[in-house]
Amino acid sequence: MWLSNLTVRNCRIIKEATLSLSPDINFIYGSNGSGKSSLLEAISILSIGRSFRTSRIAEVIRYEEEALLSTSIVSSEHFDNKRVGIEKSTSKTLIRVNKQNIQSQSELSKILPISIIHPLSHELITGGSLKRRRFIDWLAFYKYPEFHHQWKLYQTLLKQRNAALKDPKLYYAIEHLTYELCKLQKPIHTYRQQALEKLKQTIEESIPSFLIEQSPQLTLKTGLPNDIGLDTDSLVSYYNNKLGYEKIRGRTLQGVHCSDIVINLNGMPAVSSASRGQSKLLSLLLHIAQNITITQQGIIAIDDLAAEIDASNYKKLIDFIPSLNRQVIITSTHKPAVLPNNPAYSMFHVEHGEVTVE
Ligand SMILES: Nc1ncnc2c1ncn2[C@@H]1O[C@H](COP(=O)(O)OP(=O)(O)O)[C@@H](O)[C@H]1O
Ligand SMILES: [Mg+2]
Repeated sequence: MWLSNLTVRNCRIIKEATLSLSPDINFIYGSNGSGKSSLLEAISILSIGRSFRTSRIAEVIRYEEEALLSTSIVSSEHFDNKRVGIEKSTSKTLIRVNKQNIQSQSELSKILPISIIHPLSHELITGGSLKRRRFIDWLAFYKYPEFHHQWKLYQTLLKQRNAALKDPKLYYAIEHLTYELCKLQKPIHTYRQQALEKLKQTIEESIPSFLIEQSPQLTLKTGLPNDIGLDTDSLVSYYNNKLGYEKIRGRTLQGVHCSDIVINLNGMPAVSSASRGQSKLLSLLLHIAQNITITQQGIIAIDDLAAEIDASNYKKLIDFIPSLNRQVIITSTHKPAVLPNNPAYSMFHVEHGEVTVE
């Protein structure tokens, strides 16, 4: 599966750009501020409905324009070409697949499993637990259709329970909401756990040891104390014991919404012991492993690759990328000196938001 004809309109510095992308490797180079990240933001919006740099769409829409547009033809060996597109203004979103309006972004995400690696991706290692939950949830979303439904329901119940904990007039609703929330803890944790096992298997089988000198140890924490069983009855009595405290704090303090993945390198937590370079490389490899685990047919985009890793790993990665058998899009500030042996790549140059093919 690959993006074959990407059109971007009114996305930051890009007024209009069309790229006939290669199904293999694509290099996009241009000086700082030329519009490379903007192009990847347009791809990100197509896949997940938001930029990887900001959740505020107003920042991404080109100054003085109403809406941005990102469309592409999605080609695959397994289905006929699909034309997909998203138009976003500050007040509305229009999503289309083959000229049909689509209501939910997740339908478009399913068609476009794109992993974008960018200069802040190393926060997967060094940042807060939210990034790691999103990372594993993204995997579970693709692997287990039921997970998405349960996760959305959990978010709704959590909001309602938090509102009830804050307001004595709503205390009557807590018992029911607690019960419903407890029922979802185990399935959500189990799907995440299964997704993590699949990721670990990919790391072992598909990420060569010359790239990952120290294999990370990944452990999923539930978001609840270790000694609490995840069956509904045990959880309900645990929550009931904590209820007084939760009312004071006005929110649900524990549960799978607080879950985390502990990432260790050589038995030490990477969050505190990995160097910046190690974190960047590890995050890059975890995102690649994530994409491989999701599908044989994914797309990987790497923003400013040369800034992510040192020269020797850069060369190793470029040699490794063709074996991924998927579309890869790489941006850099300079025309890449190291190119893959496989000649099936395309080269684009961006300058002041204008894209030319070389
Ligand atoms: N909403 C916007 N409208 C128009 N231009 C913008 C907007 N937001 C940022 N820019 C400009 O876009 C450029 C950023 O492009 P970017 O894609 O980040 O460049 P690169 O990744 O090539 O360094 C900057 O010159 C910035 O001033
Ligand atoms: Mg950039």
